[in-house]
Amino acid sequence: MNTILVGAQWGDEGKGKIIDVLTEEADIVVRSQGGNNAGHTVEIGKEKFVLHLIPSGILRAGKKCVIANGVVVDPIALVGEIEGLEKRGIKLANRLLVSETAHLVLPYHRLLDEAREIRKGRNKIGTTKRGIGPAYGDKAARTGLRLIDLTRPKVFSAKLKARIDENNAVLKSLGGKPLSFKEVEKSYLAAGKKLAPYITNTVIWLHTQLESQKTILFEGAQGTFLDIDFGTYPFVTSSNTTAGGSCTGSGIPPHRMDRVVGVMKAYTTRVGEGPLPSEDKEISDMLHGMGREFGATTGRARRCGWFDAVATRYARMVNGIDELAITNLDGLDTLKELKICVAYTCHGKKIQYPPSDADDLAHCKPVYRKFAGWQQPTGDVRQFKKLPVAAQKYLNALADLTGARLRIVSVGAQRDETFRV
Ligand code: GDP
Ligand code: IMO
Ligand code: MG
Repeated sequence: MNTILVGAQWGDEGKGKIIDVLTEEADIVVRSQGGNNAGHTVEIGKEKFVLHLIPSGILRAGKKCVIANGVVVDPIALVGEIEGLEKRGIKLANRLLVSETAHLVLPYHRLLDEAREIRKGRNKIGTTKRGIGPAYGDKAARTGLRLIDLTRPKVFSAKLKARIDENNAVLKSLGGKPLSFKEVEKSYLAAGKKLAPYITNTVIWLHTQLESQKTILFEGAQGTFLDIDFGTYPFVTSSNTTAGGSCTGSGIPPHRMDRVVGVMKAYTTRVGEGPLPSEDKEISDMLHGMGREFGATTGRARRCGWFDAVATRYARMVNGIDELAITNLDGLDTLKELKICVAYTCHGKKIQYPPSDADDLAHCKPVYRKFAGWQQPTGDVRQFKKLPVAAQKYLNALADLTGARLRIVSVGAQRDETFRV
């Protein structure tokens, strides 16, 4: 069974943790979009791992992991991540494959990302400043460099020279400092040498694996409302974070996909700018007070709010979500009363799906349905029936309002703080 796992909200839904759980049943875990803007947390006993480019499946011995063609790869960051994992005893040799057609994130992408954010001022996106937007921009403009170039130093140097010349002119016009071609060339070729054993044609490799009945788990990065097409544009990332991105980003066709799992928190969070209709200061303060909801990549405090079923209903539709994994239920344990956003009122009209324009969404007011809290810890529960009745009712409402089947509940960051429904 090949599974696509996606974030059904604004990212940071707990995808890393659920991937770690589902990897047990898969042979291969594939990242097919995004870059090191992602931060996927997995906690196993006293060990905490935050993965940025390498699939979270790498933490399970014997499983193979692929960084596929749709990902944008900062090779220096990737080398750092590989070395960091190896230092912690995770063996990567013959377990990690990186697509030769994945595009590179170069230093000018990061500098442009930063410069554009500064120029936007109050209208900034709040990016992770990892150069993701400019790297995908170059890919679409057909001016990108790919990992395959990095394995051919002469070709790489010639292409890089042309790109640095052009980008230095742009950087200068934005008031930035020009890059030294020699320095970038040296550091990137050195990273390329270290990555060489991993770089391959992952499309052919993945298809060969499918022919021998191996099963694949696709690890989505970011979330539905950060999707370049379906998110709250322009406050989005630059890739297709929704289920279709797994196909184009890996070369595995749609009819080989068997199931889509949507991961969502029992409440809503967003890091970065852009509309968030159910944002709520009280729930934000409560979660931050518990030391929760700080970004895994940038450390920024996440904005928090009530569960938004208008959003997840749309996420179910766009991704074709069959099954739901709901995380962070325990974050709501102390509340006396909970709210779920079941509709919006927008310019005087009640609507059931998010409007297409971010400005319109910013004007939407949530229509809430109230639920009783359970005011008991849920962290030790391992069976749906053992949850307080109010928590059962709340979870059932999340699944019903989203329109998919509840399959996994997570009540803590640890691998074993999870149960199936
Ligand atoms: P991802 O980007 O979707 O993988 O999510 P992140 O790792 O960025 O953020 C999710 C955060 O929630 C991490 O700190 C996880 O360790 C944590 N987490 C995931 N599931 C649970 C849960 O059920 N309970 C608690 N307390 N923490 C969780
Ligand atoms: P994971 O995979 C949450 C957000 C940024 C910003 C917007 C654009 O851990 O869920 P970018 O750097 O991609 O150009 O930033 O997208 N963003 C994320 N938010 N989780 C992520 O990844 C994110 N990756 C990007 O905060 O609002
Ligand atoms: Mg994250």
